[in-house]
Amino acid sequence: MTKTIGIFLGSLRQGSYSRIIAQELAKLLPAGYVAKFIEIGNLPLYNQDFDDVGPVPDEYIKFRAEVKQLDAALFVTPEYNRSVPAVLKNALDVASRPYGANVWDGKPAAIISVSPGAMGGFGANHHLRQALVFLNMPTLQQPEAYLGHVDQFIDEDKGEVNNQGTKDFLQSIADAFVQLIERY
Ligand code: FNR
Repeated sequence: MTKTIGIFLGSLRQGSYSRIIAQELAKLLPAGYVAKFIEIGNLPLYNQDFDDVGPVPDEYIKFRAEVKQLDAALFVTPEYNRSVPAVLKNALDVASRPYGANVWDGKPAAIISVSPGAMGGFGANHHLRQALVFLNMPTLQQPEAYLGHVDQFIDEDKGEVNNQGTKDFLQSIADAFVQLIERY
């Protein structure tokens, strides 16, 4: 049966490097796997009253159902001020609630952090990793993916990676992630 990997981007920017990297990785998945980009920019900021008092926003209902159906989750994100962009943290929070109904639970995950800077979004990567521990998502350990100087190996006009070494590295991430998913 085909397995679906949900792709969650930490950037809403039109020309996002994170999106280009995610699109490249999606092309490298083996037969039997499909990538599905999941919209998170439309989710209202999480407010516990929505769940405790209601009404629950339609966007939450649809998003939680979408996440529940996934076999795995790939997070491709920039770093904002040494942490996870709010839009992505919000999506994690929304699908983790109401209490006892965390739809991330048990889903294998992988993280790729992206930055034009030298540190490759290390801070975002590890803050995200910390949240995934609490959400009970078995997360790919190796290879780690901190893509620094990302602007240097992306062709922004074509919207694709222009460097074979980077493609090979993304292939190693895709292969290791599929192995992890197969274990669960
Ligand atoms: C950034 N950027 C950034 N980069 C980084 O390496 N560490 C950081 O802490 C930050 N902080 C930060 C905060 C905010 C609010 C913005 C808008 C940007 C730069 C960031 O890496 C760059 O804009 C990327 O291109 C964003 O990723 P996308 O949109 O290309 O996927």
